[in-house]
Amino acid sequence: MATLKAVRGTRDLLPPETALWNRIEATARDVFARYNFGEIRTPIIEDTSLFSRSVGEETDIVSKEMFTWQDRGRLRSDHAQSLTLRPENTAGVVRAYVEHKLGDAGQLQKFYYIGPQFRRERPMKGRYRQFSQIGAEVIGPPHAGSESPLRDAEVLEMLATLLDELGINGWTLELNSVGSAADRARYNETLRQALIPVAPKMCEDCQRRAVTNPLRVLDCKVPEDQPIIDTLPKIADSLDDDSKSHFAAVTAALDAAGVPYTRNHRLVRGLDYYTRTTFEFTHGGLGAQNALLGGGRYDGLSEAIGGPKAPGIGFAMGEDRLVLTLQALEAAKPEKADAYIAPLGETVNAAALALARELRRGGLTVELGDGSFRLKKSFDAADRTARRIIIMGEDEVASGILTVKDFSTGIQTKVPRAELAGVLKTPGGK
Ligand code: HAM
Repeated sequence: MATLKAVRGTRDLLPPETALWNRIEATARDVFARYNFGEIRTPIIEDTSLFSRSVGEETDIVSKEMFTWQDRGRLRSDHAQSLTLRPENTAGVVRAYVEHKLGDAGQLQKFYYIGPQFRRERPMKGRYRQFSQIGAEVIGPPHAGSESPLRDAEVLEMLATLLDELGINGWTLELNSVGSAADRARYNETLRQALIPVAPKMCEDCQRRAVTNPLRVLDCKVPEDQPIIDTLPKIADSLDDDSKSHFAAVTAALDAAGVPYTRNHRLVRGLDYYTRTTFEFTHGGLGAQNALLGGGRYDGLSEAIGGPKAPGIGFAMGEDRLVLTLQALEAAKPEKADAYIAPLGETVNAAALALARELRRGGLTVELGDGSFRLKKSFDAADRTARRIIIMGEDEVASGILTVKDFSTGIQTKVPRAELAGVLKTPGGK
């Protein structure tokens, strides 16, 4: 019988790597709490039209990457509904904001989320069909200050803090403004005209995009096309005065806070709901899929799904990519247990369990062997899992004096049981 495997583009996360995932999530929750964000958990399944109306019918995500099916319900007479595994979480958060009339509170709503997203992309390193995002959204009625450029700057400053606290050095913040919906439409037309004479010299994808969706030409990675793209008009020149001054206020606040950024005129992002500020944080260690996170402002999204005016800004980080980056930076060495208890023979098994219980309840991480432990054979395995080994034979049980060996120094000491926890808590070798 053929063995069953995880579905293409999905994977099992195993220890010790899962410890790193948990550490990333704990750090993110801690930072979000300090900026006064609360957690939101929206369903993984949503009505398909939520994404076509927000992310946009013409985007790659909606047109070819969604896991969608017709759900009939239980009865023959039930109306078939098109359902989709969420490819991103901003649309779901804004739907929840509208559904629960959260704007009526008259305040800014600040949410964060951590969870799986699904896109049928071609899998490669850093790109999966099921991946996890850690994201946040700030949304509210205009009179609550949701359009203020200070909100944009604060979100970006929070991200810089979060990446620093995660230990991700060497990130780059790429920043741009795509202006209002009208600015973008104007730019799209300018670009379409500018592409007419040059498109025939470009790659096949660009030739198609020049007609169907000129903005996407800016995402092209084909080396030969880059000099041509560099000569195309920039979106900055299509922005109206409001969009320009909004962007200037965002960058002024970032300068004041000391958050470094570079302007990337080509950063237009692949989702239709963006207005004004757009950004990505990239990291060189990631290779082709170098975006650690992406986000921006979406001032018309609530109205697009039938809600009240509720400008917002947010981002989502690819958690899988954070893990890859930390692993590459070697900041992610798995933690060893504090001690390995090695009972020498079946007769001391029970006493070993009692000792393990005592130490674990005292906050130590303890691996417990059993009476089959053989000094020579099992030593290496213990070395791989713990920083120290506690040898426990019948003599040790009787005398209450244990033999403790520190694997990093090779030094072996006799420790009275009452002092054991204290000794194990001292740093010693890793
Ligand atoms: P996005 O740029 O589509 O934006 O995704 C955000 C991040 O999710 C990416 O930068 C990347 O790190 C990660 N990501 C995306 N696709 C994959 C994949 N197939 N495998 C692994 N990681 C992936 C959004 O999703 C927007 N909802 C962000 C946002 C929030 N904008 C405003 N608020």
